Amino acid sequence: MNPLDLRTWLAEVEKLGELRHVRGADWNLELGAISELNVKKDVPPALLFDEIKGYARGFRVLTCSTSSPARLSSILRLPLQRAHHGLVEMLRGKPAQWQASAERFPATVVKNGAALEHIEREVDVLKFPAPLWHELDGGRYIGTGCSVVTRDLDSDWINVGTYRVQVIDRNHVALDMVPGKHGRIHYEKHKAARKRFPVVIVCGGDPLGYLISGIEVPFGMCEYNYIGAILDSPVAVLEGELTGLPFPAASEIVLEGFVEPSDERTEGPFGEFHGYYPGKAGIAPVLTVQRVYYRSDPILMGSPPAKPPNDYSYSKAVMRSALLHDAVVAAGVPDVCAVWAHEIGGARMFNVVSIKQRYAGHARQAGHILSQCGVGAYMSRYSVVVDEDIDPANLQEVIWAMATRTDPAVDIDIIERGMGSKNDPMFVAYRYEAPYSSKAVIDACRPWDHLDDFPPVAEASKELQQKIRAKWKDLL
Ligand SMILES: Cc1cc2nc3c(=O)[nH]c(=O)nc-3n(C[C@H](O)[C@H](O)[C@H](O)COP(=O)(O)O)c2cc1C
Repeated sequence: MNPLDLRTWLAEVEKLGELRHVRGADWNLELGAISELNVKKDVPPALLFDEIKGYARGFRVLTCSTSSPARLSSILRLPLQRAHHGLVEMLRGKPAQWQASAERFPATVVKNGAALEHIEREVDVLKFPAPLWHELDGGRYIGTGCSVVTRDLDSDWINVGTYRVQVIDRNHVALDMVPGKHGRIHYEKHKAARKRFPVVIVCGGDPLGYLISGIEVPFGMCEYNYIGAILDSPVAVLEGELTGLPFPAASEIVLEGFVEPSDERTEGPFGEFHGYYPGKAGIAPVLTVQRVYYRSDPILMGSPPAKPPNDYSYSKAVMRSALLHDAVVAAGVPDVCAVWAHEIGGARMFNVVSIKQRYAGHARQAGHILSQCGVGAYMSRYSVVVDEDIDPANLQEVIWAMATRTDPAVDIDIIERGMGSKNDPMFVAYRYEAPYSSKAVIDACRPWDHLDDFPPVAEASKELQQKIRAKWKDLL
């Protein structure tokens, strides 16, 4: 059994030399801005904030937990990887395996756990240093790297989803669950039946928890099962004393309560994963928090989105690249070399596949499938296909291929009325009421019928480069 203990993982990260301790920062914009600047580094460390302004020592916040290949591989219990190529390769095929074996790993209920070190019945969620992350946010957010646990109204399906959580006052928080998300579906059913909606929110723990509650685990499947499959061991959970909803036994901070029928209030705005604030605040269900469980010296998990690269864009890029690669291959496209869902597109809007061209039309086939496959279709804007000599993760090379290997009149296919989103910053200019969006598939491969007479690349050959690097290693 595994209680998803953040501290065990932090000890590992400390050994990797990837944890920085920060003292004396302000929850009011400083934590957000420091974390935002930190993730612009090549290999950003995780940041553990303590002695936060106005808060007792020990009431901590962790950010940037998933933002390096080494940390992400350790979270996913994979052999240590220092480069993302290896990580994506290692991940390929794994999500399908985890999904297939998830049924064998139901969470195990235990009676005791570190999360019960403190139980508060007179609650004040601002006891924890919930940050104001961005300047135009509508308030302080206690939940970003969190997991929201809910139960279906007419089945025993427990869902665990990452949805942002805004502090309204000492015992109320608002939950932003976009329509269609599983927690939202659970909520809508309770609302229609005019029933109180029980909720538990886990605001810190082993980052595997929010990493998996933040990806699209199939409808009807509990994320704890999926996590159990990754760990090859069930998740040990405690049950909330009011709702009976399960949360990992070593959780750092847990909020429990009910959304009273139709208690919906203004939520947001909040800086989003694509790098923009939504136009205006929305309306969201509000949880009345009646219990707070927390460990001594609790660590709030922060994972604020922002203009990418942001706190979680790296993990999204890696996870989605592996899923896209598997999907394109599963659709029958041969000789796919690599896929990269770029962080600058929020791992959704700018995706690249490299192929070894085998036949006329191969590149278009790969591009259209990349753009339209199940995991890729939502908000895909640009899907680019490049030859095998181009690294899809290297923007310089990708843009060079687009600049030098395309004839725009014939190499850009436009798909109209594709799958867009009201969350798209371009939604303001969409031509339809419904969230249709156009998409471009860019074939940046050398034309198949001119592979023989296409000009050779003016660059030292791989062999020459290797020889020169070996001989001139002090210089290069
Ligand atoms: C850090 C982070 C924050 C997120 N915030 C939200 C959010 O506020 N609202 C939302 O609907 N989805 C949000 N997502 C995306 C969902 O977590 C994701 O779509 C997930 O699949 C939802 O779970 P579900 O499929 O069980 O509904 C976020 C993801 C991450 C990683």
